[in-house]
This record gives sequence, C-alpha cells and structure tokens, in this order.
Amino acid sequence: MNGLTDRLQMIADEIQQGETMADIGTDHGFLPLHLWENGISPSVIMCDVSEPSLAKAKAAAGAYQFGHELDFRAGDGLQVLSAGEVDDIVIAGMGGLLIRDIMSFDLEKTCSFRKFVLQPRNNSGLLRYWLASRNFDIVKNQLVREGKFICEIITAKPPKSAEIAVLGPSEPLPDAGEACWELPEDMFGIQPELASEYAQVKLGIEEKILEGILRSCNVEEADINTVRKRIDYFRRHAYEI
Ligand SMILES: C[S@@+](CC[C@H](N)C(=O)[O-])C[C@H]1O[C@@H](n2cnc3c(N)ncnc32)[C@H](O)[C@@H]1O
Repeated sequence: MNGLTDRLQMIADEIQQGETMADIGTDHGFLPLHLWENGISPSVIMCDVSEPSLAKAKAAAGAYQFGHELDFRAGDGLQVLSAGEVDDIVIAGMGGLLIRDIMSFDLEKTCSFRKFVLQPRNNSGLLRYWLASRNFDIVKNQLVREGKFICEIITAKPPKSAEIAVLGPSEPLPDAGEACWELPEDMFGIQPELASEYAQVKLGIEEKILEGILRSCNVEEADINTVRKRIDYFRRHAYEI
C-alpha cells in the first residue's frame, strides 16, 4: 500500500506500537491496513455501516483479508465490537454529531476502550463539549491541512467507568456554544501558525453569520451578543503568532 495522506498519518501517529485498534467508518481501510502492515497494531478491526464501503477495505487488504489479524465487520458504530475488545478506537471523516451519537449509544462500552482518536468533519466544538461533560480527558487537539481544508484531530481518553462519565466534571464548563470548544488554546502551543490560520477561517465564517443576523428582521439581542463574543475570541487568536 502507498503512504498515507497527512491527515491519516497524523491519526496513525496517535496509535502506539503494540496497541490493537478498531476503525469505525473505515471505508477504504487505508489507516488500519497501514498500522497492521507496519507492525504497529498487532490486530485491527475494520468496521463500517455500509457493506459496499467495507468491500473497499477488503479489496485494499487483498489476500491479507483472510488472515487472522485482519477483521472486517459490518454494522453501526461501536455495536460491532464487544467491550474492551481493542485498545484504541478511531472514528474519522464523519460529522462531529454522528461521532458523538456513536460514542453515547452505550457509554459503558465506550468507556471500556483506552483511547479514542477522532477526526470530526464539522461540529468539533459540540463534540469536545460532549467529551468534557462526560469526563473524558482531551489529551491532544491537532490540526492538519488536507487540500483546501484544515482538519481537526482530537485524542481523548474515557473515564474509568460510565458512572464517572455520567457524573460529569466537578467544575462547571463553559457553554457548549463558546468558541473555546472549537479552537482550544492548546492548538496554539503545538501548531501556532496553522491554528492562527484556522482562527482566521472561523473569524470569516462568524463575520458572515453576524452580517446575516443583522440583515434579518427579527433580531434577538442575545443572538447578536453570542456571535460577537465568538468573533472576539477568533479575532484575538487569528493573529496570535
Ligand atoms: C468519509 S468516510 C471516512 C473514511 C475514513 N475513516 C477516513 O477518514 O478517510 C465515512 C465512512 O463512515 C461510514 N459510516 C457512517 N456512519 C457510520 C456508522 N454509524 N457506523 C459505522 N460507519 C459509519 C460510511 O459508510 C463511510 O464509509
């Protein structure tokens, strides 16, 4: 198999030598195949809700698909796995709300895995908020360029049990709509230039939203204030390098 794209490589780098993994929504299967072929993951499970997608992963695996360490499972989210069956779970290239739904379907099972590497295509702020409000430890927030897009990669560790997850954090959290969930400060420590560019992209989107709100007839003062607050946050971070 050829090398991975930068996005998939950054996700792969979050899986440590010897860790087993399952890729939920694997589609082409490139990531788990890479981890297995390079001796990083001793066994991988490729999962997808779509049989045609899973067929792509089988085709990419070629003759290897009949080996014992490669496993292909059709079905929804984590339902195709048993509790603690692998160390790490990757869920990449899906919307943030779908990732959240997959993870919240059976919290007990979700908390049985050691680490999640998530790459939401959108709604990353709401996903981070959900993780934090369920006591997940968000250990790393990274960015990677893919074509004209900047993608986000979240590495998070679940709490030890579903009870702790449901209990939530001891300190109150910022509101789900706060911009800090979309652009956490630690991104600037790791990748200041890309994070600043990402803040500029978000600033542009938010300014257009404000223009739209101000043009509409039924303007709620609270909505304007919320967007202005987000604009302030992104503007402060857009030129931070
Ligand atoms: C855009 S592809 C992403 C492929 C790969 N993970 C990547 O990041 O390059 C999204 C895949 O997720 C699968 N998918 C969507 N919802 C799913 C679910 N609930 N459970 C498992 N797979 C799902 C789709 O069938 C599709 O193959």
